[in-house]
Amino acid sequence: MPHHIYGKKVTGVKTFLSLRNEHRRPLPDEFHQDDVRYAEELVEHFLLEFTGEGDLVFDPFLGFGTTLLVAERLKRVGFGVEFDEKRWRYVRSILQHPERALHGDSTRLVDIDLPEFDFSITSPPYMGKHHKENPFTAYSTIGNGYGQYLETLKDIYRQLNARLKPAAKVVVEVSNLKHEDGSLTTLAWDIAGKISEVLRFEGEIIVTWENAYGYGYDHSYCLVFSKI
Ligand SMILES: C[S@@+](CC[C@H](N)C(=O)[O-])C[C@H]1O[C@@H](n2cnc3c(N)ncnc32)[C@H](O)[C@@H]1O
Repeated sequence: MPHHIYGKKVTGVKTFLSLRNEHRRPLPDEFHQDDVRYAEELVEHFLLEFTGEGDLVFDPFLGFGTTLLVAERLKRVGFGVEFDEKRWRYVRSILQHPERALHGDSTRLVDIDLPEFDFSITSPPYMGKHHKENPFTAYSTIGNGYGQYLETLKDIYRQLNARLKPAAKVVVEVSNLKHEDGSLTTLAWDIAGKISEVLRFEGEIIVTWENAYGYGYDHSYCLVFSKI
């Protein structure tokens, strides 16, 4: 069987990382129940890999602001959008540049006044294939199912593609989901396939977590894309 049809051999490119899921700043008590933050080490790794000082970085699902906090620490210019007003107010209260955290809806990125970005990194709101709530209203309304969720995410990245500088990279951190009834949602793989329809998929980096991680796995995927 010819070897070359499988493409490039792995030479020196590290496709896995082992990180700790930690934060310098504890969340206020009112948010303890829904700590959905991703790891600072993860953001740090990709900002150092794909950006330089002064570069413009975007997180379409800002959450509690990990991307912007790490960006400020590394002297990058981070912007982000958060749907949930309480989270957004909290993020504004902890940033050096609160004006770069925007309260809004990333499904309508075209309506938001944003600069052109060198890089984007996020962890999107998750959905299990049987779940009813809409992740893009922070689960506050009933949605139209898993297929529509994937289509909406694709549309967000289609809109983001238009806001990227030519060589920009995009990282999406996501894991598959094991449910209590033993079934699975192959969320990471489905998202990789969908976003590949609007950005160029460059491959995945597997992150193994040395301490607690959720959803039935101790690893997640960083899906790396570039602007089309
Ligand atoms: C997994 S969390 C991100 C956590 C973040 N990486 C952190 O470290 O804090 C996803 C976030 O997306 C927000 N979100 C959901 N729908 C949104 C939308 N349409 N526009 C902007 N943000 C949205 C949720 O409220 C939630 O805070």
